[in-house]
Amino acid sequence: MKIFLDTANLESIKKFNDMGLLDGITTNPSLLSKEGGNPKNAMEEITKIIKGDVSLEVVSTEYSGMIEEGKRLREYGDNVVVKVPMTPDGLKACKSLSSEGIPVNVTLIFSSNQALLAAKSGAKYVSPFIGRLDDIGQNGMHLIKEIKEIFSNYNFGTQILVASIRHPLHVIDAAKIGADVVTLPPAVLEKMLHHPLTTIGLENFLKDWEKLKSGNPDIKI
Ligand code: G3P
Repeated sequence: MKIFLDTANLESIKKFNDMGLLDGITTNPSLLSKEGGNPKNAMEEITKIIKGDVSLEVVSTEYSGMIEEGKRLREYGDNVVVKVPMTPDGLKACKSLSSEGIPVNVTLIFSSNQALLAAKSGAKYVSPFIGRLDDIGQNGMHLIKEIKEIFSNYNFGTQILVASIRHPLHVIDAAKIGADVVTLPPAVLEKMLHHPLTTIGLENFLKDWEKLKSGNPDIKI
């Protein structure tokens, strides 16, 4: 399973990329707005730091504007995936851009029917938002299971990019289903790194090493 970071925060991107954890990045207008400053600089920098796919989203809501913005976004790098909303114009733009070899991520997916249509339009990724479904009392992970089953039935090349992830259990469940990608807020990835027994175990190893050293001050690893 690929891990993307769902952020435009450069510090977090560098931190987790240095650990070798990141296969890509997803951004959206809200995430860019959260960071402030000029979004162009952030988008340029992210596409340079990350070798894998970087989703950058259009803000036009009609077809020709999406195509124009999509092509401008691609100028940031060959690793840019154009993110379009799940609307009739979004699907039309997905079809055109994909036919020209420009990869597209169809976002704001909340049903299996929407995922099926986005795949038919040639999307490289579909982004179902599971946390937002959980928030309104619908089971987001059931949606991932259903999309996985449908895509497997027809061997669609479209990848399931699980978005709106709220906690590490979402990641485990997505991995058990066999989702292609999870895109994680930095706080969720941070939580996945830690376990209290790891912290206690390391503290004890270091205490015992100090004990050993007290009898042999010159000892070194
Ligand atoms: O890529 C954006 C998606 O992950 C949304 O997350 O937390 O705003 O529902 P959230």
